Amino acid sequence: MKILIVGGAGYIGSHVAREFLDQGHNVVVFDNLNTGDRANIFPDSSLVHGDILDYPAVLAAMRGMDAVVHLAAAKAVGESMANPEKYSRNNLVGTINLLNAACEAGVRRFVFSSSAAVYGEPAYLPADEAHPTNPENYYGFTKLEIERILAWYDKLKGIRFAALRYFNAAGYDAKGRIPGLERNPANLIPLVMEAACGLRPELQIFGDDWDTPDGTCVRDYVHVSDLARGHVAALDWIGGHEKSLVVNLGSETGISVKQIVDCARKVTGRTIPARVVGRRAGDPAQLVASSALAKKELGWAARESDVENLVRSSWDAYVRAGLTGK
Ligand code: WQD
Repeated sequence: MKILIVGGAGYIGSHVAREFLDQGHNVVVFDNLNTGDRANIFPDSSLVHGDILDYPAVLAAMRGMDAVVHLAAAKAVGESMANPEKYSRNNLVGTINLLNAACEAGVRRFVFSSSAAVYGEPAYLPADEAHPTNPENYYGFTKLEIERILAWYDKLKGIRFAALRYFNAAGYDAKGRIPGLERNPANLIPLVMEAACGLRPELQIFGDDWDTPDGTCVRDYVHVSDLARGHVAALDWIGGHEKSLVVNLGSETGISVKQIVDCARKVTGRTIPARVVGRRAGDPAQLVASSALAKKELGWAARESDVENLVRSSWDAYVRAGLTGK
């Protein structure tokens, strides 16, 4: 199939593009390269350098495609609360442009990067897709709102979609095929890597007095290569079932902040200075997925998401990028 991967030069998008290429699809990446990296465009794919807010450019890129995979979004939770306008524009308006262009160009299959942020504070764990959706930040709201728009476009326009609710994406391609590291990362594992490299003086641990086994927060970290396989499986599923799907992609395993830091010290051989500071506003103590639906419908389960793989593949990427100093 001919697939337009929007945001395909970015961190998750480049892994997704690689997986579709490996499965024999034709891939065109559409990316404005604001956070994506030209180095992540593979020789067996092509790049349309454009912005999702530019409707004519989106429509031109959409023509002749069999499916669109949409990963282009702003994703910093804190920033979304300080600058909701940016999230309204990029995430909401940008996705509406893509959807309208898909309708106009007759592209009826749409895979969308959603997020566990749609759930908000967990009412029970593991969180399955029936868990109430009460996003606690504007970023999560944009993802939920898009899911709801998608459901209307399914009903009204025959767009079949898969909304993939990612848990904490982490790690890098184990074969080292993604050269461009995420710039200005804000998530735990890259911050641990930066502390290991001496690019930041220390890691701040946001609280060790949580009601968890070791007192630090627990999350469901899912390897980006596992996520990438989930996109291919989801697109196959839409084609086979002619209906839409909202599904969690998580490892179903809780890993604490302390476990990650300990593992990173072992893998990197570095001290990794870490200091416990106060809790971060809005953090739940634990968040873990049920991925039973993904298993049942997509035959998907995380394979590369154990803590060692997440940390080692990240460290290897920092080594390859020449960032580890010393
Ligand atoms: C992970 C854990 C922190 C930084 C966010 C979004 C979520 C999804 C994934 C996109 C938490 C702790 C972190 C640090 C720390 N995004 N931490 N020190 O908040 O679980 O999830 O990214 O869809 O919607 O909310 O991810 O990587 O920020 O934090 O102790 O310097 O690490 O408290 O427990 P989070 P994160």
